[in-house]
Amino acid sequence: MTDPVLDQPVALVTGGGSGIGAATVLLLAASEYRVVIVDLAADHAHHVAQQVQQEGGIAVVAALDISTVAGAEASVAVAVDTYERLDVAVNCAGIAHALLPLHEIDDDVWSHVQSVNLDGMFRCLRAELAVMVKAGSGSIVNVASIMGTVASAGVSPYVASKHGVVGLTRAAAQDYGAAGIRVNAVAPGYVDTPLMDAGTREQLGEIGALHSLGRVGRAEEIAEVIGFLASAKASFMTGAIVAVDGGYTAR
Ligand SMILES: NC(=O)c1ccc[n+]([C@@H]2O[C@H](COP(=O)([O-])OP(=O)(O)OC[C@H]3O[C@@H](n4cnc5c(N)ncnc54)[C@H](O)[C@@H]3O)[C@@H](O)[C@H]2O)c1
Repeated sequence: MTDPVLDQPVALVTGGGSGIGAATVLLLAASEYRVVIVDLAADHAHHVAQQVQQEGGIAVVAALDISTVAGAEASVAVAVDTYERLDVAVNCAGIAHALLPLHEIDDDVWSHVQSVNLDGMFRCLRAELAVMVKAGSGSIVNVASIMGTVASAGVSPYVASKHGVVGLTRAAAQDYGAAGIRVNAVAPGYVDTPLMDAGTREQLGEIGALHSLGRVGRAEEIAEVIGFLASAKASFMTGAIVAVDGGYTAR
């Protein structure tokens, strides 16, 4: 007799310990995925794993730094070693930085932001795609930002990194369409998560007003679209950059 659990698909979510990533973990686990929660913050990741288990789902934690080659590769290895497959990857880990005009950005800030948001994304994609190519199928969703298609003042490292994520997503879609692997991205507007610093949170009303819907988003609203793109319902979508931004970029 076959074990029905072994038929359950497997999803890896980087940055799964908080915010949009955590909401995505919970959504995918509720949709019968077995989930690998990758996050630098081990305690947050374990907390989300507990929530999954309390709801009857299956999750394992990989407390790793995806900005390094070793961390990105080990994350994917946890999925393969634990569950022997990888059906979906959501590359969500990312960082923000203090607002400053470009000429005041020092090299450390620039490098740190690129190392997580862009180098880490590339390293995770490379490791995930290697497994998916062998399997002949897979679906990847990258978390970009409105700052991947437009810009605002004071965030040049973040804007550059997210424009890079948009380019990587489109390029990977070209490389792997014929292999049966879809690669898409979501581009969220402002979302109320711990990524927002205290100063930004104080201005939630003003920032909300930049969106046509007059408010910032909730992590669950982004996770819904990630879940759709990851699923077979989006079977004719690849290389798409889907704005989930309350109309921010429509203005
Ligand atoms: N919150 C927003 O307004 C917003 C808007 C657009 C896009 N995004 C993007 O959404 C993604 C998730 O952001 P969020 O708002 O949920 O933030 P968050 O801070 O709540 O979650 C990000 C998670 O990534 C983890 N992480 C950071 N660096 C890591 C690393 N090197 N290795 C492993 N894990 C790491 C953090 O520990 C954290 O748990 C990011 O890529 C962010 O750029 C956020």
